Amino acid sequence: MSVTVKVPAKVNLQLGVGPLRDDGYHDLVNVFHAVSLFDEVTAAHGPLAVTVAGASIEGVPAGPDNLAARAARRLADHLGREADVRLHIDKAIPVAGGMAGGSADAAAALLACARLWEADVPFETLLDLAADVGSDVPFALFGGTALGLGRGERLTALPCEGEFHWVFALADGGLSTPAVFAECDRLRAAFEQEAGWPHESPELLAALTAGDAKALGAALGNDLQPAALSLRPSLGRTLAAGREFGALGGLVSGSGPTCAFLAADAGHAAELAAALDEADVARALVTATGPVPGAHVLS
Ligand code: C5P
Repeated sequence: MSVTVKVPAKVNLQLGVGPLRDDGYHDLVNVFHAVSLFDEVTAAHGPLAVTVAGASIEGVPAGPDNLAARAARRLADHLGREADVRLHIDKAIPVAGGMAGGSADAAAALLACARLWEADVPFETLLDLAADVGSDVPFALFGGTALGLGRGERLTALPCEGEFHWVFALADGGLSTPAVFAECDRLRAAFEQEAGWPHESPELLAALTAGDAKALGAALGNDLQPAALSLRPSLGRTLAAGREFGALGGLVSGSGPTCAFLAADAGHAAELAAALDEADVARALVTATGPVPGAHVLS
């Protein structure tokens, strides 16, 4: 018997970063949006093991260091049982790309293990366990479009009308999330910028409610973008090319280095992806739509 869970990537439509907290995290105003790039995680009975397959999986730890294994152990602890599960991850979400691929796999592992072990775990409890594994893990269960406060783990669903069309410019190599947050702190200190308390953007929330892609494109924002650009200056060219080729908006996704561009419709997204490909400003271009549901069992 095995259980397969499909889980989406995310892009942050707004990532407001507050001051560094005593526990090493930052308070966030984090508008998450789940998009149609998916990993699949299959759980089967056996000694704890993680295997990974996919086109670009360099740097993904197999075995107990994988975040999916941590998630399985966290659920097993909660249930007071052994984490005896073989997890297989089929990866399509870019690795270390700012699209929460590792967090998605952890969320999928929680759901798959709960089903495999026939444990009746309430959704709220799964969200709490997910938050113990990582700040972005609860959203991968939640899906849709949501506001994340605190570390990003305190979620509220946001109204989002219609479908948005995205182009993702994937970069060579990843960026480490802690390194990007640290660079954000360093830049703020160097330029004596007070890290104010972040606020939700009313323009962004209104654009989501209205399903207005043009207004959403103008309202996208990421406080981690200067840090990602400082660590990976070549992303400046990628973002400039997206603007030049008519994206409604563009930004670094989360801690990067993936860049996300908003298009008016599916045709515009395909044209934009082709133009960016031609300009040679990314390792690969993929199109996707959002919002999509969070992690769910396929079989
Ligand atoms: O929660 P997670 O383990 O995914 O976070 C990884 C790292 O990202 C943290 O150790 C911290 O350096 C940084 N982070 C942060 N503030 C947040 C979320 C993550 O500084 N709200």
